[in-house]
Amino acid sequence: MKFNLRTHNNGELRESHIGQRVVLNGWVDTRRDLGGVIFVELRDRFGFTQIVFEPSYNEQTHAEGKALRSEYVISVEGTVRKRPEGTENPAFPTGMVDVLVDRLIILNEAKTPPFAISDNVDASEELRLKYRYLDLRRPKIQKNLILRHKMYQATRRFFDENGFLEVETPVLMKSTPEGARDFLVPSRLHKGKFYALPQSPQQYKQILMVAGFDRYFQIVKCFRDEDLRADRQPEFTQIDVEMSFINQDFVFEMFEKLTKTLYKEVLGVDVQTPFLKLTYDEAMEKYGSDKPDLRFDLEMKTLNDVFGKSEFKVFKDAVESKGVITGLLAPGCGEYTRNQLDVLTDFVKKIGAGGLVWIRVKEDGIEAPVAKFFTDDEKKALVEKLGAKPGDLIFILSGKKYKTLGIMGSLRLEMARRLDMIKDDSEPKLLWVKDFPLFEWDDDTQRYYAMHHPFTSPRTEDILLMDTDPGEVKAQAYDLVLNGNEIAGGSIRIFDSELQGKMFKALGFTEEEAKEKFGFLMNAFQYGAPPHGGIAFGFDRLCMLFSGEKSIREVIAFPKTASAISLMDDSPSLVDDHQLKELHIKVR
Ligand code: AMO
Repeated sequence: MKFNLRTHNNGELRESHIGQRVVLNGWVDTRRDLGGVIFVELRDRFGFTQIVFEPSYNEQTHAEGKALRSEYVISVEGTVRKRPEGTENPAFPTGMVDVLVDRLIILNEAKTPPFAISDNVDASEELRLKYRYLDLRRPKIQKNLILRHKMYQATRRFFDENGFLEVETPVLMKSTPEGARDFLVPSRLHKGKFYALPQSPQQYKQILMVAGFDRYFQIVKCFRDEDLRADRQPEFTQIDVEMSFINQDFVFEMFEKLTKTLYKEVLGVDVQTPFLKLTYDEAMEKYGSDKPDLRFDLEMKTLNDVFGKSEFKVFKDAVESKGVITGLLAPGCGEYTRNQLDVLTDFVKKIGAGGLVWIRVKEDGIEAPVAKFFTDDEKKALVEKLGAKPGDLIFILSGKKYKTLGIMGSLRLEMARRLDMIKDDSEPKLLWVKDFPLFEWDDDTQRYYAMHHPFTSPRTEDILLMDTDPGEVKAQAYDLVLNGNEIAGGSIRIFDSELQGKMFKALGFTEEEAKEKFGFLMNAFQYGAPPHGGIAFGFDRLCMLFSGEKSIREVIAFPKTASAISLMDDSPSLVDDHQLKELHIKVR
């Protein structure tokens, strides 16, 4: 079909174009037939232009215009004019003008879309994902993807300017235990063998350091077969980085600079550096989370000193077993009803608490079912420590340290929601959480796991503890947190084979297992590995937070559902028997 190339896009025409002859292409967004005149909003990713079919201007084109329907793809030619007085629409940059059409070519017709192509779409997410190509026409999603594009470009510029090299690493690699479950790809050429899709390019980037690349970055797809949430996808994108001859503070400085640059270049927002730094223990004790949301003040207080000699059995047990007693003040909630308190008790029980101690603060002291177990001194110290005032409510939980702190952290978030303390438009709250434990104990398998990954270096001063008290060893590992979301994580790496061997031993790998799984990295380390460390940003999460969305699916062009399905192309799907046969696979 012959049509003239456009002279302008649909976001471009202004009053300065009045009188010009133009060619426009695009989709019919809306059509209003006012009997005599037909108004069409023509849409492309650049914007909207009003085009007008007037019988007095061109009778034949006006007649042709009657056939237009939503989402038809058309090409029009005509003349730009000033909109008649009173019909201007300053909400659109093109709103002062329209185009009187004298030539229309319908390039393609369209079926009636299953939902309106508009920002206020009320279709279910499932329907939107099934017809993602229509969903992607909505201005809001286009805006998100344009923002994402800006983030890529600003990121690449930043790294280029700071001496980093972009290097691609393989997508088919060896399966290595890293934390989540691998996606596996069967080999046709090597019967019974599998590639894994990378959970991250971790080992490759470390090998690039051994190879002398010094500063590496990559904007890279990672694959993890894990349970999905609003901020997790089975395939997601990282800004992956590694640097040689650096230390932890250098990493902090470099990535504060990156974060600052992205805020400035993409959102025009100034963020202050250096960012706050909390140790993992501080974050857990004050906020009950390793990704604390600091947009509101509620702070937990450890009460072991207040109840150190308590006769209340629950607290006594916690103190004696080196557990924790933690308190949270809910300001102004002293009049919560029994029903409200029961709901909150159920809330913490559902996430693993044995129960919830609550205490009303009154003018003349405290009132609570457990008050009879407390001495006057304890009551006084409690109120003082939490800075409680009459009319406030106090919550207390006790038990195993990190588990209990985590539960109180969830209650802290729940109370902030109930008290409407989380403001989406407040200034971004960024902080580093550092000194994570090196190991995590797993009760089910009765062994330690690497909390970050097996290549993370312990703090030098903690190395000796690896043999005697692994649970107490802290790592040179850090996360960057934005408004309660973990947006990046990394560590300084182990770079000598002896320490790495010690690490594998602590994780319960035999020498053979370690060789089998990580031999290539260990071999590389024997040929002169520089000290190195790095970090990876969750790029989708960053885009989600920058665009003010609540789910990373809103900033990914073709996301999967919470059950890892792509509704548009219907994957995963069954495959032909002969494909399976070639891959030496039988499905039972
Ligand atoms: P980590 O596993 O912490 O570190 O991942 C880095 C960041 O990636 C994001 N992220 C995810 N985003 C979306 N969907 C997922 N399923 C998902 N999983 C993680 C998070 C997280 O902070 N190799 C190390 C980095 C390093 O040590 O340098 C790594 O991958 O925002």
